[in-house]
Amino acid sequence: MAHVVTLIPGDGIGDEIARETVRVLNATGGDIVWERHTAGAEVMEQFGNPLPDEVIASVRKNKVALKGPITTPVGTGFRSVNVGLRKALTLYANFRPAKTMPNVPSRYENIDIVIVRENMEDLYAGIEHMVGDDAAESIKIITRKGSERVVRFAFDYARREGRKKVTAVHKANILKLSDGLFLEVARQIAKDYPDIQFDDKIVDNACMQLVLNPWQFDVMVMPNLYGDILSDLCAGLVGGLGVAPAANYGEDAVIFEPVHGSAPDIAGQNKANPMAMILCGALMLEHLGEKEAAEKLREAVRTVLAEGKNLTRDLGGSASTTDIADAIITKLK
Ligand code: NAI
Repeated sequence: MAHVVTLIPGDGIGDEIARETVRVLNATGGDIVWERHTAGAEVMEQFGNPLPDEVIASVRKNKVALKGPITTPVGTGFRSVNVGLRKALTLYANFRPAKTMPNVPSRYENIDIVIVRENMEDLYAGIEHMVGDDAAESIKIITRKGSERVVRFAFDYARREGRKKVTAVHKANILKLSDGLFLEVARQIAKDYPDIQFDDKIVDNACMQLVLNPWQFDVMVMPNLYGDILSDLCAGLVGGLGVAPAANYGEDAVIFEPVHGSAPDIAGQNKANPMAMILCGALMLEHLGEKEAAEKLREAVRTVLAEGKNLTRDLGGSASTTDIADAIITKLK
């Protein structure tokens, strides 16, 4: 039976990379019917809301979406569509694999780390206020329920994928109550998974260890802010944004989207690397149960990278967005 998937191309480079990603995914043989919806600045101009209800309703109905990047105005203007979608659909676990790929310039080899970032709480709950004119307060929220579901997600993933270890990252030595609660929950849940090793690291030490000896890590789980920072650190370990996929998981829906943004500096020029979004497509195929198509697609991406003939500018080449998709489709055949 065909899988119905909501497609939100996004803006900036979103349209070009989404167009090529759809072409590639259709060539994998995975049976996908696309339900296309738009969100962001243009939709805001037309309808006065950057995230119309029908977009959320479509993701809720189909339970799976593939999304391109969407620009967020800085300082003023509408609130982030990305955060809006995560909140509306309770997408509590942000999942970012960082895996070494051939021909992607990087200082490290054989990296294979998965960051699971709590996606709803912490300082990102957005509870801030001024205290008089000269002080501001932001409130960090950590709940038992929020911590439990994201830590369980990390352990379930580790078990399902045959991974060996889960590391909880925190600052519980200083934030004894909030991060203390996260760590307490992680230690408790670890007892339900005796087949998976568990340890914890204080966030500053975790950063140093990731740079000194990243191979000691496997799956890492952490509150929102540390996850935001460490997942970019890990993207840097494997060579950057053009090849970094991600997913946002909730109980009722999953949204697959690249880590990178809308890259306004190269939008509309057919120069963007579509591989991050194409690799999101591989994660999505896997989620839909199309494991063979997913592995075939990853292998095709790896081969194109290893050959080094078709690389976009971010990887030191001069190929266009369309060239990359064409090269991957040729390998799929
Ligand atoms: P960005 O990721 O869009 O760009 C950073 C640099 O990386 C730029 O030089 C860009 O040209 C390059 N780059 C990014 N993706 C690339 C690709 N696929 N191929 C080749 N080069 C690529 O980050 P920036 O400039 O901070 O953000 C731009 C906009 O995107 C902002 O409005 C931001 O809020 C939004 N954004 C949206 C995200 C989402 O929708 N999930 C995530 C991150 C940022």
